[in-house]
Amino acid sequence: MSIIKLHDKYFKTYISEDQIAAAVKKLVKQVSKDCKNETPLFIGILNGSFMFVADFVRKYKYNCEVSFVKLASYEGTNSTGKIKQLVGINENLEGRTVVILEDIIDTGNTLQEIYTIFKDKKLKRLKIATLFFKPDVFKKALPIDYIGISIPDEFIVGYGLDYDGIGRNLSSIYQLTPKPTVKNILLFGPPGVGKGTQADILKEKYNLVHISTGDVFRSHIKRETKLGKLAKSYIDKGNLVPDDVTIKMLKSVVNKTPRSNGIIFDGFPRTKVQAIALDKFLEKRGETIGGMLTIEVPTNLLIARLLERGKTSGRPDDQDENKILNRFNEYYTKTEILKSYYKSQNKYFGVDGVGEINDITNRLSEVFDNL
Ligand code: IMP
Ligand code: MG
Repeated sequence: MSIIKLHDKYFKTYISEDQIAAAVKKLVKQVSKDCKNETPLFIGILNGSFMFVADFVRKYKYNCEVSFVKLASYEGTNSTGKIKQLVGINENLEGRTVVILEDIIDTGNTLQEIYTIFKDKKLKRLKIATLFFKPDVFKKALPIDYIGISIPDEFIVGYGLDYDGIGRNLSSIYQLTPKPTVKNILLFGPPGVGKGTQADILKEKYNLVHISTGDVFRSHIKRETKLGKLAKSYIDKGNLVPDDVTIKMLKSVVNKTPRSNGIIFDGFPRTKVQAIALDKFLEKRGETIGGMLTIEVPTNLLIARLLERGKTSGRPDDQDENKILNRFNEYYTKTEILKSYYKSQNKYFGVDGVGEINDITNRLSEVFDNL
């Protein structure tokens, strides 16, 4: 479960893949009962119904034909009332049983248009099956033969349904939700990019809490907590601490943090499993990750910076160019997975990290303010 952002709006998980599958199965059963002795023509209403149609016909075990009509009525989250027929029907429908497969019936404007389109086609019978139905908004006295799931008047996306073009590829259904008030961010950047400096500044500027996983680990290990001991047993053997241990530690820190305007996560998540766990955990708090902010600096500049720092810091890993390159490699390989995870939620922001500290803070702030 998680909160996602599509364009300017936020959506929370609402109907799971399993619930959808159960509803499709129920519809298939009802339609099969009525149509199995002939070859019905299933007509999907594009675009929204493509996923429903695919799953429906896969489960339908008797002879059938499949076609599509393309209608459009929505702009943003409001039905415009005007229906446009973008792709029509070519088949000869005389004497046929046609079953319309709709993703969702809302006001019923589209349904009315469907009845109009098929009125003079001399069908044997016209049946309507819809996966989702909003009974509170439906204004027409038109029959709907099969209904999958009735939902309240809330805008939904996913499983073929879109919000201004996007969100159709989500495999479960999400529901519109108010913008979360707490702004949590992930701060990323390769070694030497000035992440610590910027985290300190942002923390003060916005009253955020900065949680660095490295610090969390060290503190648990120092205090010899149960989780600390467990983590240490892996670290001592030179192994990575498993995701579930890291996640538990992180949750315990977050739960103990005082109320703030949000959290800067630093060094976490490192894997997709951790990212998913973090989303679930935050959703229970009514929160989300607003964005993954990555401070970007060209590698050659960073190497020069680190070598320079190595001269005075005495850190051996800052003095050897090969070791530095290894650290970059590791960083880019690991963050790539997270980058694509957050990109797919429109939450990835690369921020130019070349320039004065102040300039970089301003660039980060601009992103933060617009989250
Ligand atoms: P109606 O004509 O008002 O019944 O709306 C039907 C069409 O509007 C559907 O086929 C969808 O394309 C779209 N629609 C209605 N409600 C929603 C929603 O909650 N999310 C996304 N699209 C919707
Ligand atoms: Mg539709």
